[in-house]
This record gives sequence, C-alpha cells and structure tokens, in this order.
Amino acid sequence: MEISTFPTSESASIYVAECIAENMRAKAVENSHLVLGLATGSSPLLLYKELVRMHKEEDLNFENVITFNLDEYYPMPKKSAKSYYAFMHNQLFNHVNIKPQNIHLFDGTFPASKIDSFCDTYDQKIIEAGGIDFQILGIGRTGHIGFNEPGSSEDSCTRLVDLNEITRKDAASDFGDLQKVPSKAITMGIESILKANKIYLLAWGAEKAEVIRKCFLEEVTSKLPASYLQEQRNVELILDPAAAKLIQSNLIEN
Ligand code: F6R
Repeated sequence: MEISTFPTSESASIYVAECIAENMRAKAVENSHLVLGLATGSSPLLLYKELVRMHKEEDLNFENVITFNLDEYYPMPKKSAKSYYAFMHNQLFNHVNIKPQNIHLFDGTFPASKIDSFCDTYDQKIIEAGGIDFQILGIGRTGHIGFNEPGSSEDSCTRLVDLNEITRKDAASDFGDLQKVPSKAITMGIESILKANKIYLLAWGAEKAEVIRKCFLEEVTSKLPASYLQEQRNVELILDPAAAKLIQSNLIEN
C-alpha cells in the first residue's frame, strides 16, 4: 500500500483523473476497453468534475469505458434524487460520451427474492469485462469501503447488507431525517473490490483523519473493513493534509 498526500483535494483529484485518462487513451489505441469501479459520495466529486472537464476541453473519449458502481441503497427507486443512479448520472454519465450499455449500477428496486442471483450476475459481469482496472473508493467513519460495514469478511462477494447506524446517521442530512435513510444497501464485496488492478482510496478533511489512522496504522481487522487494503500492493491512499494529519510520518509528499 502506498500513501500519497497532496496540497489540496483538488490537486489530488486531478492526479487520479490524469492516471485514469492516460490509461483510457492507451486502451483506445489498443482498441480495448478500460473498466472503472466507481464510488459515490463527496470524495470522488472533484475527480468526476475533472474527468468531465477533460472530456469537454481535451476530447477525452469515454466510448471505450465500462463502469461498475460500488453500491446502492435498498430499496431505492432509480428516479429518486437520493439514488446513486441519479448521483452518477448527474455527476458524470450525463456529461460524457459513455455508452449506456457500458454502465453497471445496482437496481435498488430489484425484488428481495432475486437479489442473490442479481449480485452473482454482477460479479460475473465484472469478470466477463476483464476485471476492474481502476477502483475508486471513499471511506466511511465506520471504516467501510463500498457498504462493507464492520464484520464484512475479506472474501465477501456482492450482496445485500445492513447499514451500520453510524453510516445511517452520516447520511441523515442527505435524506433530511434519519428515519428516511434506508437500513439496507447492495454493495460490491470486499473480494470483488480487492481484485481490481489498482485501487485509489480518496479521503479529504479532518473528519477522516482518525478512521484513516485506525484502518492503515493499526492491525488488519474485519472491524474496520478498509484495513484489508493494507495488505494489497496495488492500493494508493490519496489524501489531503487534513485527512493525513495522524499518519504524517508515513507520507510521500506530492
Ligand atoms: C459510496 C461508498 C461509500 C463512501 C463513503 C464515504 O458509493 O461506497 O463507501 O465512499 O461512505 O463517503 P463520502 O465520500 O461522502 O465521505
């Protein structure tokens, strides 16, 4: 695992966007496709903004990009402004030339009885696409990645999960009221995430400093699922100074 700190979340996001864009261009030359695993939430907002800018101003072409999103609340209609379906279209997909058939998002209206087979199919589709080239992650206060909450095992697959109460409280302002935050979600599993060729975990601000310290300086534990990333060679933590405050001695300055 590599830890990189940047002067601002904006410069950090531009760094990640440039890495992705470079690989998109290289894959296009080979007439091949690039597979992205995408997160929602506040952490990747500037990354998506930069990718959109590159598309509009530098002709960055998304025709050869395939995406798989990490998670979705359950139940959750696509049309809801709170859905990750809406988030991804508003922040990225509506502004670039990605092919709709190359976008993979969870359907939060899927009948509960069919979710297991839907989740198996999702993991299978990732394999059929050739695996994820770049996985973007944020981190929750519980140490979750995707919605793999404390207790998630390292070999977990895509599945329906219960959201931790801390995660629900953190989402309450988005929903206006804690009672309105769904208690479940569908998430890619830890195993599916760890199979990615390269993983960028983005974290900004002082409120992430303690969870970053616990997950990446203390022992690997299912109590803090992001700590599984410590054991991976292909992981880069992308931090701003405030998020990196408590792990300063391990930093590579950019
Ligand atoms: C969202 C996701 C979550 C978030 C995490 C951090 O798709 O997978 O794990 O990345 O909750 O959220 P923000 O970025 O809003 O702090």
